[in-house]
Amino acid sequence: MAAELIDGKKVAADIRAKLATEVAELKAKGIAPGLAVVLVGENPASQKYVSSKEKACGEIGIASFAHKIPATITQAELRTLIDQLNGDPKVNGILVQLPLPKGLDEKEIMNRISPAKDVDGFGPDALGKLVLDEPGFIACTPHGAMKMLEAYQIDPKGKHAVVVGRSVIVGKPLALLLLRKHATVTIAHSRTTNLKEVCLKADILCAAVGKAKMITGDMIKEGAAVIDIGINVTAEGKIVGDVDFDAAKERAAYITPVPGGAGPMTIAMLMYNTVLAAKMQAGIPFTV
Ligand code: GUN
Repeated sequence: MAAELIDGKKVAADIRAKLATEVAELKAKGIAPGLAVVLVGENPASQKYVSSKEKACGEIGIASFAHKIPATITQAELRTLIDQLNGDPKVNGILVQLPLPKGLDEKEIMNRISPAKDVDGFGPDALGKLVLDEPGFIACTPHGAMKMLEAYQIDPKGKHAVVVGRSVIVGKPLALLLLRKHATVTIAHSRTTNLKEVCLKADILCAAVGKAKMITGDMIKEGAAVIDIGINVTAEGKIVGDVDFDAAKERAAYITPVPGGAGPMTIAMLMYNTVLAAKMQAGIPFTV
């Protein structure tokens, strides 16, 4: 049986349409959400992501302030820019596109972003709040994965969710969000010895490793929901996920495509966090 496609593009478009309405209402009250996007160097993938983010801002009515900076910037200069953006009232959210070029201390820069403007949700304040089940910015990719499950009425409660990948920006927060929704959660990673058996237990299988087609069809439980968070470029220049889509769709009940799944959702949730940041900074109660 072929799986039902989880259409991330459509779910993202719905979220963006709602945000556009909300932004218009906020603007009528004198609140104009703004996002600063910092791109250092010339990484082609980063350039592409940043232009998608700027385009999304434009469509929703969020002001975007682009800072495209040569890779020769020093740590001190970049730090000064972050400080300026932290203090700029027109900037509600700050996004520093990763990875930063070699020689720059990524962690120090990310941690310098004011917690009130950390729309990526990568900083200690956001991640601490996630662990504590307190409202806060949720990292965009895992938040997007949860929104896709929600849109297709896939309730994690009581289900076994397996997250393959333990990164701070995707795997760990996604595991916590699934736990928050009452799933039984396993986090698998590169040192997991029996990955196939672990994956075969998953009612919800989330792949966030960054390795093309590493999740093969025989690792999918019949009827599972498969959320593919990988974005990999093959030698032929094709974009593929971490899951062997053609094989997996024969066993899964639901599956996200790559592209058209997690990618557009990440951008939609960044817009969501920026609107949230603007509301929070205007004293409007913060609920997620
Ligand atoms: N690089 C790849 N994905 C992301 C993301 O979601 N946020 C940032 N800041 N950099 C990235």
